[in-house]
Amino acid sequence: MTVIVTGAAGFIGMHVAERLLARGERVVGVDVFNDYYDPALKDARAARLAGREGFSMVRLDIADAEALAAVVRDAGARRVVHLAAQAGVRYSIDNPFAYERSNLAGHLSVLEACRRAEGFEHLVYASSSSVYGDRPGEGAGFREDDAAAEPVSLYAATKRAGELMSFAYAKLYGFPQTGLRFFTVYGPWGRPDMAYFSFTRKILAGEPIEVFGQGRMARDFTYIDDIVDGVVGALDHPPPAGTNRLLNIGDSRPVGLMDMIGVLEKALGREAQKVFKPMQPGDVTETYADVSRLHALTGYAPRVKLEDGLPRFVEWYRGFYG
Ligand SMILES: NC(=O)c1ccc[n+]([C@@H]2O[C@H](COP(=O)([O-])OP(=O)(O)OC[C@H]3O[C@@H](n4cnc5c(N)ncnc54)[C@H](O)[C@@H]3O)[C@@H](O)[C@H]2O)c1
Repeated sequence: MTVIVTGAAGFIGMHVAERLLARGERVVGVDVFNDYYDPALKDARAARLAGREGFSMVRLDIADAEALAAVVRDAGARRVVHLAAQAGVRYSIDNPFAYERSNLAGHLSVLEACRRAEGFEHLVYASSSSVYGDRPGEGAGFREDDAAAEPVSLYAATKRAGELMSFAYAKLYGFPQTGLRFFTVYGPWGRPDMAYFSFTRKILAGEPIEVFGQGRMARDFTYIDDIVDGVVGALDHPPPAGTNRLLNIGDSRPVGLMDMIGVLEKALGREAQKVFKPMQPGDVTETYADVSRLHALTGYAPRVKLEDGLPRFVEWYRGFYG
């Protein structure tokens, strides 16, 4: 049976599609290939998937509800992994309406397509750790039943809004849903707007890096293969009808920004020139996933530490950019 993967030309989408294909599923990818970051990287990811048995890609803006519903219907799909979104916290300061279209109208289109699909079984969609807002120094993992009521960026607000729309649709139409709150995903084929990626480029070019929050931030960096384990594990365990289940998916071992830079310097064999800057609007001090729910459900246990995962990213980066 076919699985629809939205955002399949994106970082996480490409990896999820690959995993599903590897276990023999048919996958229809949906992506608009926008230019939020280098479209050549999206083309290269799509080229990796193209030609794989069981894969096809549809170029489409998910906010086009009729077109998306037709894709789901024509594929006879009963499961959707919805990863397409306008990502990034800082970009939302200058481009708020990109988030309205992809994350609000787009999420609603996905919900409509799923509720209209015959025999629909499970929607798994991407949310974000940013829904928890800024919780400096609490020293404990964020839990799914913690309040997520005070987002500090528009990105976070649209991700939380997606979760709330999903609650309403689960109650109204009954189809099972899982919202995954991802915590800072990194790895090969990653996103150029994220710090570990842009730092790599700058360190190799001999350019200074800007270290925000004076370096005193911490992130729960999660390796892409662990994320894919969690996404596919969640997909295989739908909740009961009428339920919108929220699950954290992170590494559960937050790492300080300066420690991350240290690991990167070691992997690159070069020292970074660091320019320390204050916190950026919309950024949070620390993220830290409590993953006990996902573990209880699927046995999820993150395996790749930053010390092992970042060198794998660097190896890919050197190969890809030469
Ligand atoms: N990477 C992370 O650390 C992280 C953290 C938290 C949440 N997330 C969420 O996970 C999901 C995947 O993130 P990613 O890192 O792979 O991002 P990404 O930007 O690499 O992938 C998203 C893809 O969605 C596509 N897209 C955007 N708007 C679209 C639209 N209107 N119609 C069709 N396609 C559209 C983009 O072209 C892109 O290829 C997103 O929902 C993101 O918000 C990611």
